[in-house]
Amino acid sequence: MTNETKGKGFVWQTRVLDPSPKAPSGFRSLAPAVYRGSTVTFDRLADAHDDWRGNRYTYGLYGTPTTRELGARVAQLESAHASFVVPGGQSAILLIYLTFCKADSHILLPDSAYGPNAELADGLLAGLGIEVESYDPLIGAGIAALIRPTTRLIWCESPGSITMEIQDVPAIVTAAHDAGVPVALDNTYAAGVFFDAFAHGVDVSMQAITKYVGGHSDLLLATVSVIEDAMLERVGTAHRLLGLAVSPDDCALALRGLQTLAIRLQRLEGTAIEVARWCKEQTEIDRVLHPALEDCPGHDIWRRDFTGSSSVFSIVLGRDWSGDRVTRFVEALRIFRIGFSWGGTTALVMAYESLPRKTGAYEGWLVRLNVGLEDPADLIADLEQAFAGASR
Ligand SMILES: Cc1ncc(COP(=O)(O)O)c(C=O)c1O
Repeated sequence: MTNETKGKGFVWQTRVLDPSPKAPSGFRSLAPAVYRGSTVTFDRLADAHDDWRGNRYTYGLYGTPTTRELGARVAQLESAHASFVVPGGQSAILLIYLTFCKADSHILLPDSAYGPNAELADGLLAGLGIEVESYDPLIGAGIAALIRPTTRLIWCESPGSITMEIQDVPAIVTAAHDAGVPVALDNTYAAGVFFDAFAHGVDVSMQAITKYVGGHSDLLLATVSVIEDAMLERVGTAHRLLGLAVSPDDCALALRGLQTLAIRLQRLEGTAIEVARWCKEQTEIDRVLHPALEDCPGHDIWRRDFTGSSSVFSIVLGRDWSGDRVTRFVEALRIFRIGFSWGGTTALVMAYESLPRKTGAYEGWLVRLNVGLEDPADLIADLEQAFAGASR
């Protein structure tokens, strides 16, 4: 008996529950369909087993047409073999750790990595007997000296969070691969496009699509991408066991975000460079940490390896800036909002005091700016009035 005929001959209370589709198929919309669903039904008992591989659907957790569509399109964007969609950047980081590490593993993480990554290392992972050692993000080939027989993973994040160090990823990859160690990259800043992770030898690359792919500060999602079958198998197995379910509605928003990613990135890049160049001329600012400007540690590597820059950069304030003056400056801003998660349409600001870095501590205050789609001249005027206000 087919699904079509299964519901016939029953009372309406039963018939109304018949899940087989009644509408004609073949609606070829430009917008990908949103499929919600936990349970998937089978025609044959023999097909009823969990599977995350191949083209079958077996359970909503392991993929719906909507989540798979998003994964496939991000994989295409990043020239990856496949991309897994996960609930957010932090869960992508966790998935990568749990794929490669077990008790007694040693991991290398740049000291400029996204803060909650380091917190995860010092907290939950330390409790599981996994040792995460931080390294100078500008170490390049020197990473070889830190690799131990128990090293199971080397993380890169380029540019680093807040202090914006550009890493020599190819040199780190060469040293890692010589020792048989895989390299993972947090490629969120580059939106998976301004730095081609796989062309530079990275084994597994993640990005918080919360930021640029989503692009409107209204969803939390991330992707973990792999370049070949063996990695697909390892990451996919851990992904299945961790139960990292994602909302198909959020995936649909991310699919929509992809349509305007190129045009938003182009605008954000232009605005960020214009605002950063203006900042460089201000006497109140010691340094501007923007990958496209020479002040940025690793700028030459950015020129060599990247095809663009995005919306976030930091300014280092002079030593004469007290905490009160920084607060006055940040709170005087009218367009830039105080907030953490960048990459949307709105300009954001956040202040950080004394970030410890192996390359030389930033002892004063750093302010991270994220430009949105606002007019660049308005953003500059906003900064100008806030600097003036903070000096009074
Ligand atoms: C570099 C980087 N990686 C990962 C994340 C985490 O992403 P999510 O907010 O989706 O957990 C962030 C968030 O700010 C980030 O800046």
